[in-house]
Amino acid sequence: PGSAAPLCDDDVAVGGVPLTELADRFGTPAYVLDEDEVRHRCRAYLRDFPDADVYYAAKAFLCRALVHWVQEEGLGLDVCSAGELELAVTTGFPPERIVLHGNAKSPADLQTALRLGVGRIVIDSTSEIARLAAAVPAGTRQKVLVRVVPGIAAGGHAKIRTGTDDQKFGLSIADGSAQHAITRVLAQPRLQLVGLHCHLGSQITTAKPYLSAVRRLVGLLARVREQHGVALPELDLGGGHGIAYRPGEPVLDSAALGAKVRAELASSCAAAGLPVPRLAVEPGRAIVGPAGVVLYRVLSVKRTGAHTFVAVDGGMSDNPRPALYGVRYAPRLVGRNSLTAPEPVTVVGRHCEAGDVLATDVQLPGDVRPGDLLAVPVAGAYHLSMASGYNLVGRPPVIAVTDGHARLLVRRESLADIQGRDVGL
Ligand code: LLP
Repeated sequence: PGSAAPLCDDDVAVGGVPLTELADRFGTPAYVLDEDEVRHRCRAYLRDFPDADVYYAAKAFLCRALVHWVQEEGLGLDVCSAGELELAVTTGFPPERIVLHGNAKSPADLQTALRLGVGRIVIDSTSEIARLAAAVPAGTRQKVLVRVVPGIAAGGHAKIRTGTDDQKFGLSIADGSAQHAITRVLAQPRLQLVGLHCHLGSQITTAKPYLSAVRRLVGLLARVREQHGVALPELDLGGGHGIAYRPGEPVLDSAALGAKVRAELASSCAAAGLPVPRLAVEPGRAIVGPAGVVLYRVLSVKRTGAHTFVAVDGGMSDNPRPALYGVRYAPRLVGRNSLTAPEPVTVVGRHCEAGDVLATDVQLPGDVRPGDLLAVPVAGAYHLSMASGYNLVGRPPVIAVTDGHARLLVRRESLADIQGRDVGL
């Protein structure tokens, strides 16, 4: 009530291409990425964080075209596996602009990073220090940061909070493990400690936790200088900048965040008598989330009396986020107009479990029927990158739209792809 947004529309276009045309040409389900929107968001970050390194967090979504866009726009890349790293470097991304993360980096992750010459590796545990140092070739030094847990609760859901103590990521300031790790890293001649890193969590919608993190990390930088006589030159504040999945939800304003963080960093460093370190941020979701739409075809509509279940040709295999985090989306009917009054429906997927729900209690026109096309906005981040092969359903394709043209970036996973991996008997 009170919302002027139409529930259906016959001419929704993304990047100048009608969604109906995309569904007909590429089939459903399918992810659509608006290239201009991604590029625009990259540029906004560079504007909002001047004199900083902006690393796009590849875990949100990565494919070769995206690597290319991010590189052209002048961002760096945050990766957390040899897979993401290899894809980026073989696409031509400069390895020195890449930072490698991971709480449990495999020998292959570390070897790939060293072989390809990755710019920075973020140390996440004490045991990793000697393991990494031993793998660095003699006569060379690897730049590293130490991931610090500042003891700050922030983030949209317990499963995506990483700034609080007593969890699997990073090294805590509170129990002294961050300080201990820093001492150990400084003692390794093949590791060059360039700074501190922290990532508070995801879907954070206010600047406040980031400002607390700046104060705590600058406090640690001051102790490092006191104890070891070194002023570390870099401070990476991670990502986690929140976006709206439905109209009216809060969004983290990156321009305001950039200004506030710079001011806090300058004043905290002045108070501690420290030089201001170079800032880095790692937005993932805020770059690609709002630039993506997922298209589904309605396969069945079931009215139980209490509920109307609208079942589509995708589900938790292409979007596990509602099941994992209780995230609520706002699907819309596209491709035809309806004069029928809206009714509350539950949009469900095709998978064999009752928890395969994509959107609960959303309004769709009462005459929604099989064959209709549904579009779910804000589907660019942590959809395909978290997609699974549940029920041996192939993963959807990714289509880029730019200036009225569509092109395939990632093809649909075929049954032949799936069966091709099955080599036993
Ligand atoms: N940097 C580090 C070290 C991270 O671990 C992450 C996300 C990011 C940056 C980027 O965060 P973003 O700006 O995208 O929020 N699957 C969850 C999100 C998990 C995020 C994990 N790390 C979801 O679908 O909401």
